[in-house]
Amino acid sequence: MGTTPPGRIRDSILGYLGTIGCDASLDEIHDAVRADLGSVAPSSVRSYLNLNTPQKFVRTAKGRYSISRIEEIEPIASSKTSNFVQVGGAKLYTSDCMSWLATQPTNSIHAVVTDPPYGIREYSAQEQSKLRRGRGGMWRIPPSFDGHVRSPLPRFTVLDDDDRAFLLVFFKNFARLLHRVVVPGGNIAVASNPLLAHIVSSAFSAGGFEIRGSVVRLTMTMRGGDRPKNAHTEFDGVSVMPRSMWEPWVIARKPIEGRVQDNLRKWKTGGWRRPSEERPFGDVIRSSPATQRERKIANHPSLKPQSFMRQLVRASLPLGEGVVLDPFAGSGSTLAAANFVGYESVGVEKDPVYAKMAARAIEPLSRLDLIDPIGPQLFDSVAV
Ligand SMILES: C[S@@+](CC[C@H](N)C(=O)[O-])C[C@H]1O[C@@H](n2cnc3c(N)ncnc32)[C@H](O)[C@@H]1O
Repeated sequence: MGTTPPGRIRDSILGYLGTIGCDASLDEIHDAVRADLGSVAPSSVRSYLNLNTPQKFVRTAKGRYSISRIEEIEPIASSKTSNFVQVGGAKLYTSDCMSWLATQPTNSIHAVVTDPPYGIREYSAQEQSKLRRGRGGMWRIPPSFDGHVRSPLPRFTVLDDDDRAFLLVFFKNFARLLHRVVVPGGNIAVASNPLLAHIVSSAFSAGGFEIRGSVVRLTMTMRGGDRPKNAHTEFDGVSVMPRSMWEPWVIARKPIEGRVQDNLRKWKTGGWRRPSEERPFGDVIRSSPATQRERKIANHPSLKPQSFMRQLVRASLPLGEGVVLDPFAGSGSTLAAANFVGYESVGVEKDPVYAKMAARAIEPLSRLDLIDPIGPQLFDSVAV
């Protein structure tokens, strides 16, 4: 510890504070620098900040700092974030969503429905090239149990403590960037998994959002349930962890202004749209995986089924008015669902291969006539 050149610490601090576009505590800055550079003593970060205040940083409160001059914030090439394709009511940008969010107007998004990368590494250029060459890396084909061809899944269990610390910083940055762009009362729905959902919840809470529970997507995720490695026969009655049969979607909300009714009038947000007058939107939805028809249209390894996405996207805007954002758009399943239910939407995808896939897939996905073979009728989100 302690041998990192001060220039790298400076760049790391400036990069972090520039990305989040607001102030942060010493702990948060130290976490971000550690996630970026590895072991760095908190005292190095503290002394760098102190030495360079007020030239580069302002102390916004006890132990909190932000960049002092706007020109210190990493320049964002507007050309990189201004090109989009329009498919019906959906706009799709090919860009890194963090820099894209930093350029968006305050209070311009009414709901966020998204499925972010979890291994952080699984959507890196390196791991994507391994996946595309069919050469493992952290992607594996889950065992077949019903004769169906399965899509590759990333191995989340390879995450170590540093990866998890990085994930927390990543989601904190993301939450802070979203906070400015989302209107008061805006709903956030983030696809997660039972091992990492707590990290997403704490990051959103730290980023100024209220946690409002989860939506449970009841589906066989093909994770867990295995017998102990290399001792299958000796312990044939044991599973190392429960076979997962659900997918949690973390639900958060930007705090409302005044009462719910005031917020609904002013911002059109602050609640969930009911599937029907008699029934509220429920937080358990039975869902089968994306169908073969969907996979033929969009061969993304994390494709979410339209039968589920249409219910969630529809419910996310209580009055059916506003813009839904998917900052990790993948092959465009959120945007397709938004087109289906007649909402305006915006997606951001940084990988040009997936962005092209989405540009082609949104329209045919949105036109699919679907009855979920496992789940109830569309929009009929009953708890089981
Ligand atoms: C889990 S997938 C989402 C797939 C989506 N649910 C679908 O149905 O197609 C996450 C996507 O986020 C993209 N991604 C990762 N980091 C990103 C970033 N910083 N900005 C924008 N997109 C990013 C990945 O390339 C990947 O396509």
